[in-house]
Amino acid sequence: MSELIKLTEISKHFTVYERPEGKWELLKGAFIRYPKRVDALKKISFTINEGELVGYIGPNGAGKSTTVKIMGGILTPDEGECVIDGRIPWKERVEHVSNIGVVFGQRSQLWWDVPVKDSFDLLKEIYDIPEKDYKERLEEIASRLSVESFLRTPARQLSLGQRMRCEIIAALLHRPKILFLDEPTIGLDAVSKLELRAFLKEENKRSGVTILMTTHDMDDIEALCSRVMVIGHGMLLYDGSLNTLRQRYETQEGQDIDEIIAEMYRDMDL
Ligand SMILES: Nc1ncnc2c1ncn2[C@@H]1O[C@H](COP(=O)(O)OP(=O)(O)OP(=O)(O)O)[C@@H](O)[C@H]1O
Ligand SMILES: [Mg+2]
Repeated sequence: MSELIKLTEISKHFTVYERPEGKWELLKGAFIRYPKRVDALKKISFTINEGELVGYIGPNGAGKSTTVKIMGGILTPDEGECVIDGRIPWKERVEHVSNIGVVFGQRSQLWWDVPVKDSFDLLKEIYDIPEKDYKERLEEIASRLSVESFLRTPARQLSLGQRMRCEIIAALLHRPKILFLDEPTIGLDAVSKLELRAFLKEENKRSGVTILMTTHDMDDIEALCSRVMVIGHGMLLYDGSLNTLRQRYETQEGQDIDEIIAEMYRDMDL
């Protein structure tokens, strides 16, 4: 299997501005902001091979979305190297985006006020997908994800589950080699989650698309990922199989994976 994604000692910090505390200080705070450094990623390194389906987990604020944004070419790291299919994402953005699909569960890439089909048509132009390929691909995934009945509905009128399926289609229309999913199952009901997982598993098998997904739902990981990476405070704390993680961190026999993860997260705060 060939290496598709390689991050070497990637670091990224943000500066956030805090208001002072207290009443008088608050008044002054209208003018004064104290800069505070947040180290979102501290020397993160990992490699992902072609065809892998990797879960990326960690508590809120751990650095998962920041990693996805760097890999997607949206953010530039302070230090370190990131090479994805031979390209540096933020330096060769145009070529890079034609090779990847990205879905942010909390944000939409669909044009809000127009039928989703129009958004797909626009993406066809952006990615320069030949008419025949586009028609075939859309028909295929639209039927597998059962979205045909609402292709003419504006995105803002779709339910969360319907919209998420359309987001996945938008990310896969141009047949990218790599798919980054940032919390794709957030807010979905049990049936929608199962359907989405089944689709992703099948798509990974069928087209060989390499998938990295962040999630807070351990069932996503159990169902999909043979490999899981755990990040905490911007550092990679574990990279391996879910079974090994279970064995390594299990404190009582029969503890379920959510409890094990919760315990791991609690330990990170020490
Ligand atoms: N644009 C930004 N400006 C300032 N700080 C940021 C920015 N983006 C992220 N951060 C900070 O960087 C850290 C990592 O954030 P990130 O969004 O990567 O976490 P996450 O693992 O995706 O968390 P969650 O599970 O809540 O989505 C947090 O402390 C966050 O406040
Ligand atoms: Mg996030």
